Amino acid sequence: MARISFPKDFLWGASTAAYQIEGAATEDGRGSCVWDSFTAEGRIMDGSTAYRACDHYHRWPDDIALMKEAGFNAYRFSIAWPRIFPAGTGAVNPKGLDFYDRLVDGLLEAGIRPMACLYHWDLPQPLEDRGGWQGREVIGPFADYARTIAARLADRCKDWMMLNEPNVVAIFGYGVGEHAPGHRLGEEGILRALHHQNLAQGAALRALAAEHAGLSLGTVINLQPCRAESERPEDIAAAARWDAVWNRVALDGVMRGRIPALLADKMKSFVLPGDEEAIRYPLDLLGLNYYSRMTMKAEAGRPFDVGWGDAHCDRWTFMGWPVQPDGLYDQLMEFKRDYGNPAVFIAENGAAYDDQVGPDGQIHDAERVAFLKDHLAAVGRALADGCNVKGYLCWSLLDNFEWAFGLSKRFGIVRVDYDSCKRTPKDSYHFFKSVIRDGAL
Ligand code: FCB
Repeated sequence: MARISFPKDFLWGASTAAYQIEGAATEDGRGSCVWDSFTAEGRIMDGSTAYRACDHYHRWPDDIALMKEAGFNAYRFSIAWPRIFPAGTGAVNPKGLDFYDRLVDGLLEAGIRPMACLYHWDLPQPLEDRGGWQGREVIGPFADYARTIAARLADRCKDWMMLNEPNVVAIFGYGVGEHAPGHRLGEEGILRALHHQNLAQGAALRALAAEHAGLSLGTVINLQPCRAESERPEDIAAAARWDAVWNRVALDGVMRGRIPALLADKMKSFVLPGDEEAIRYPLDLLGLNYYSRMTMKAEAGRPFDVGWGDAHCDRWTFMGWPVQPDGLYDQLMEFKRDYGNPAVFIAENGAAYDDQVGPDGQIHDAERVAFLKDHLAAVGRALADGCNVKGYLCWSLLDNFEWAFGLSKRFGIVRVDYDSCKRTPKDSYHFFKSVIRDGAL
């Protein structure tokens, strides 16, 4: 492979989510969130919980040291909404604010640019009890939460991402019930959850822009190219429908203030006049997540009559997801073509593998190294072809609580022993470090 060089000011680092790493679920006044309830209902596949997770809430200085040692210059973390507003609205919890204050200072001291994400899925349970993302009641509280945390941190933290993957929240959380809050509301539930997240995002973006100058405002969307399983017209139509639901409600919402034509009919009962203007916002920096392409087929009885097709792939991760680095190139180039090449960064990309600790105590995760190498090469190709991509944050720094899969799927470049919480950098960590050091692959 020819040498690929990345720009000097490229952002290098990792992303994490509060719920997946922090632990300390009942400490310092944190309120409960929908994932606590979902876990308590016994809906996590391996029966594990995130009550301790990686214990990042106490071990964050060690984690920053790991990032510094790897040469990171950026780090995306999420803020736990229930730490800031334990009841979703009303009283602010000062200890929650203090935690992120210390974290941001620690990152800056280590020369790492903090990139805060406001909503990585931990909706305060009291807000879910009032309808959650099915209704509009949550929009005001979300904007207040954004204002409150930014008032504390925006003097030092300049990058703000509103949401993480609103489609996953909507589809898995409200549509098919595989994620918290576990509802099976089908198509309308999915589209309502998407639309109300779009509205909350628009309100929060406007609140932050009005109250602070000089911030870089964005959001994070997992834009996954949708392909039909076959040439059959019904599969092609199914892939187009899935593209509208999975990608376009969120992306066209913020970028264009537009409801996808394919879904307009299904959304008309809850989209009000003025909404399209309210969801549109000129972002400074958009985060894109990428894991694989989506291969779809027509399948009756599923939301939007779309099912998962056979990806015809010969490499798979431990999640059962196909390894398709070309899809990352497609994601970036199709985005450039369709949206006018605004600034983006890869906000998540990575893989779970069935890591083993070797007799030498190390984790020789050759498959993850190959995964990262191939995907970084795809980013390099997109850069060479003019895509305005500003950085690459892998998923993830640490093995962590992988939502409904609990602790059974390891995505980290650093292993976490869940008994002792000991961290061990894997081969993929050392590989990533060398790419960052060289600025090249
Ligand atoms: C993404 C999520 C992230 C993690 C990875 C594997 O969809 O944003 O929290 O679960 O997948």
